[in-house]
Amino acid sequence: MDVMIHTKVWKIDQIKSDWHVQLAQPAALLSAGKQIAFPTETVYGLGADARSEEAVRGIFSAKGRPSDNPLIVHIYDRSQVHELTNCTNELAERLMDQFWPGPLTLILPVRQGVLSNQVTAGLQTVGLRMPDHPIALELMRQAAVPIAAPSANTSGRPSPTLASHVLDDLQGKIEGIVDGGATGVGLESTVVEVSGQHIQILRPGGVTVEQLQACCPEASVTLETELESKEAPRSPGMKYTHYAPQGKLVIVKGESAAVSQYIVQQVTMHAAENKCGVLCFEENAHHYEQAVLVLSLGSVNQLEQAASRLYEALRKFDEYGVTRIWSEASTTEGIGAAFMNRLMKAAGHNIINL
Ligand code: TXA
Ligand code: MG
Repeated sequence: MDVMIHTKVWKIDQIKSDWHVQLAQPAALLSAGKQIAFPTETVYGLGADARSEEAVRGIFSAKGRPSDNPLIVHIYDRSQVHELTNCTNELAERLMDQFWPGPLTLILPVRQGVLSNQVTAGLQTVGLRMPDHPIALELMRQAAVPIAAPSANTSGRPSPTLASHVLDDLQGKIEGIVDGGATGVGLESTVVEVSGQHIQILRPGGVTVEQLQACCPEASVTLETELESKEAPRSPGMKYTHYAPQGKLVIVKGESAAVSQYIVQQVTMHAAENKCGVLCFEENAHHYEQAVLVLSLGSVNQLEQAASRLYEALRKFDEYGVTRIWSEASTTEGIGAAFMNRLMKAAGHNIINL
C-alpha cells in the first residue's frame, strides 16, 4: 500500500546570510534515512543515504524506477573517492581534478561492503560525481553521508529543472524538497568509464566530448551512440524510453528553410484533428503561428540556453495537452551532443531527414 506523506519544501535564498542554517533539517532527515530532493547544477536529484538499503529502496519506489538501473552517488569531498572505490586510474584522477565539482560522473570499481547493493544494481562499479552547486554541497556536508541521487522525476518523465517539476511528480511520495530555484545546465551529467588511456562516454551530458579530449589529449574519447551500439548499453539507464511527452514527437532535420516549410505543412495538415505543438529556435518561431503551442528554446547560436530549457518545454506540451509535436534539430557539437541525445530519446528516435 502506498502511504502518502506530507512533502516539506525548504525554499533557500542564497542571498540571505543564514541560508546554510535552513539546511539543517533536510540534512538531518537525509542522515536519518529519508528521501530528500535537492538542486544540482544539472537537474534536481532525489537523494538518500547511499549506504542504507532501506533509504535507497525508498528512492526506487518513489520514482517507480526499475531495480536494474544503478544510481549515481554524490560526494562533497574528494577523500570520499577512496572510501567508496578502488580507483587507481591516472586519467580518472585527472578528470576529477579538472571537472569536479561539475557535471561529470565517473564509473569506478566499487569497494565491497560500503554501499547499499541496490545503488550499484549488482554491478562491480559505482558512478560517482561531485555536483557544482553550493546548496547540494552544503546539504551533503551537513548530512555527512554519501548520497545516492538519481534525477528527481518519476521514471520515464523529463528530469526536473525546477522544484515545481519535482512536486508535480513526487509530492506525497518523498519527505521533502530543497527549493534552490532553476538548475543551470538543465541536462544530466556526462557519464564516463575510463580504462587505461580510453575514455568511453556512456551518456553525453554537461561536460562535452571536446572538453574531455582537451583535458586528456593522449586519450581516445569515444561516444557510445545507441544507434551504433549493437550490444546492450553499458549504462543501464540508456536502454529505457525517457522524457517522452504524451503527444507524438517528430524531429525534423535539414536545411533551416526546408525544415520550417515542412513543419508548417504538417501543422496545417494535422491542425483539424490535433492540438499541434512546435519546439523550435527563436530565429524560426514566427513561422509557426498556426500551431496551438510554439515553444522557443532561444537562439540556435546559444545551445547552452536551449539545453537548459528542453525539459521544461517537454513538460509544457503535456500540460497543454498537445497531441502532435514537431521539433527542429541542433548540431551535435559541444552541448549539442547531449541535447540531441535527449531529444532523440523523447522522440523515440522518430526523425525525418530532409
Ligand atoms: O546530472 C546527473 O547525473 C543527475 C543529478 C541528480 O546528479 N543524476 C542523474 O541520475 O541523472 P540518473 O539516475 O537519472 O542517471 C544515472 C545514469 C543512468 O543512465 C545509469 O544507468 C548510469 O548513470 N549509471 C549509474 N551507475 C552506473 C554504473 N555503475 N555503470 C554504468 N552506468 C551507471
Ligand atoms: Mg534520470
